[in-house]
Amino acid sequence: MSSETRILDNDEELAREAAELFLWLGQQAMAARGRFRVALSGGTTPKKLYAALIHGPGRADLDWSRTEFYFGDERCVPPDHRDSNFGMAEQALFQPLSIPSDRIYRMPADTKSPDAAARQYEMLLRDRFAVPAPAWPRFDLILLGLGEDGHTASLFPGTQALEERTRLVVVGTAPKEPATRLTLTVPTINQARTVMFLVSGSAKAGVVRAVVESGAQEASRYPAKMIRPEDGRLIWLLDRAAGSALTTIKQQLVSHEE
Ligand code: 6PG
Repeated sequence: MSSETRILDNDEELAREAAELFLWLGQQAMAARGRFRVALSGGTTPKKLYAALIHGPGRADLDWSRTEFYFGDERCVPPDHRDSNFGMAEQALFQPLSIPSDRIYRMPADTKSPDAAARQYEMLLRDRFAVPAPAWPRFDLILLGLGEDGHTASLFPGTQALEERTRLVVVGTAPKEPATRLTLTVPTINQARTVMFLVSGSAKAGVVRAVVESGAQEASRYPAKMIRPEDGRLIWLLDRAAGSALTTIKQQLVSHEE
């Protein structure tokens, strides 16, 4: 695993850097495999990235018809619910880019049987990536956010989902509503070619330091520490506020070379 940290001046610069990396990784994936498979994170931080992709200079640099959109996690609410990660991406990214619906793989989380929905999404991933068990799908890029408690995707501290080592998708439990969610598992995320954490704002400074600078023994306390791509790149993109508590990190220029 290679780990890189880049601290940008503000959230606009952060979004621009993230968009540039997103597009570059997409072009690399298409050159190598003819398509770009990305799993989107939830929460609000990605909105500025989406705006930078839509309005930035590089929009035409990626063949969106060969980009496949998956999700890292989803709340168990209808897709048009205000808390739906799909709903946010639909409004902020898919519609503005006219992404065809057959390129979008929504987690079927609006269900009374979340575990069955998790297994259904797992089957979809195994089918799309042509990876029967026990093989693992390799996303080209998994975007992740970071919660103030150290959660990422819907992998929350002290929950069963953190222990999963064979399934691709499981039910996650959040400490706040909507509590029931679907999430990619730690081993699935760690198979990605690139994992990009996008973190903004001073409220996250303490947890960024805890995740990036604390010892491995803290992993279950801060689930984001469990994200260590086995044969991939881990990129932390922070704005200055989110990176303000870091003490040891060397600000490495994110190299676009593999
Ligand atoms: C979710 C996300 C979650 C999110 C973090 C950060 O469904 O909520 O997947 O992991 O990325 O909570 O959220 P913000 O970007 O809103 O701070």
